[in-house]
Amino acid sequence: MNKKEWLKKGYVAEPVDKTLDLKAEINKLRKEKNAVILGHYYQSDEIQDIADFVGDSLALAQWAAKTDADVIVMCGVHFMGETAKVLCPDKKVLVPDLNAGCSLADSCPADEFAKFVKEHPDHTVISYVNTTAAVKAVTDVVVTSTNAKQIVESFAKETKIIFGPDRNLGNYINSITNRNMLLWNGACHVHEQFSVEKILKLKQQYPDAAVLVHPECKGAVAKLADKVASTAGLLKYAIASDKKDFIVATESGILHEMRKQCPDKNFIPAPPEDSTCACNECNFMRLNTLEKLYNTLKYEWPEVTVDEAVAYEAVKPIRKMLEISEKLGL
Ligand code: 13P
Ligand code: SF4
Repeated sequence: MNKKEWLKKGYVAEPVDKTLDLKAEINKLRKEKNAVILGHYYQSDEIQDIADFVGDSLALAQWAAKTDADVIVMCGVHFMGETAKVLCPDKKVLVPDLNAGCSLADSCPADEFAKFVKEHPDHTVISYVNTTAAVKAVTDVVVTSTNAKQIVESFAKETKIIFGPDRNLGNYINSITNRNMLLWNGACHVHEQFSVEKILKLKQQYPDAAVLVHPECKGAVAKLADKVASTAGLLKYAIASDKKDFIVATESGILHEMRKQCPDKNFIPAPPEDSTCACNECNFMRLNTLEKLYNTLKYEWPEVTVDEAVAYEAVKPIRKMLEISEKLGL
């Protein structure tokens, strides 16, 4: 079946010939097409291993902004592809599976957020990068979990701020900056799953373990943390720490890089509340597979598109974030 027929049928990827050496084919295609493969820490181990760069959401945006590749393959979720496309409108931006969405981005529909913003005309709007381009289009500055604290602090204390969409990250930033930002009531279904009880149980088993927590987790979980930070921040902390054991409360994909960087340390994924599921894996992130990555490079599809008028507005707060981050050395 050719690509057009597959598209008509609505399939995300066609079956791949099992005899193919996928890694060799991907390497060949990326060279031929001058493509760069960017991967988030929540991708499967094999995608992380084949990506040109693996990083957190800030690093992915920074790499996309400065690449001279003709094609960007974003092995992450849709909003990451959109951010790359908005920054590089003339490049082809591909996501191996366009169904890779984000429950946090979905918790903030653009029309409702725009209405909320309109109701508070005296507020500066700060949006987490985990949002659609349409939400970014009504935002003053975008942040990620790596730079949220510093960017919020770059505004005078008396500035009235709307922060969306993650209520947990918003509450955490309010607490560490002593602010009272108005929060959108959104959350990530993966990070909300981590439970205090399960982490405390693990702590009994590993009493010396450091607890590493992503700020998208609930406040009660963040309170147990030795370190609250973005994926890149948690990785940095683990590398620098003298501890041997680490309980990690974020999507378990990050453990791959942690184990690679620190082969002598022990990384224990914090279990989700419901231990019958693998809910500490982001089902959206994991939609991307090596087979789909191969098909994406081969067919240069599926492609991320962003409405021109939306992109025109959305690029401003993203660029602002990149400029502030550069000044801060992030
Ligand atoms: P990072 O900014 O830490 O990469 O987080 C992205 C994300 O999707 C968290 O769920
Ligand atoms: Fe979105 Fe949560 Fe998945 Fe991150 S882990 S991409 S916030 S659904």
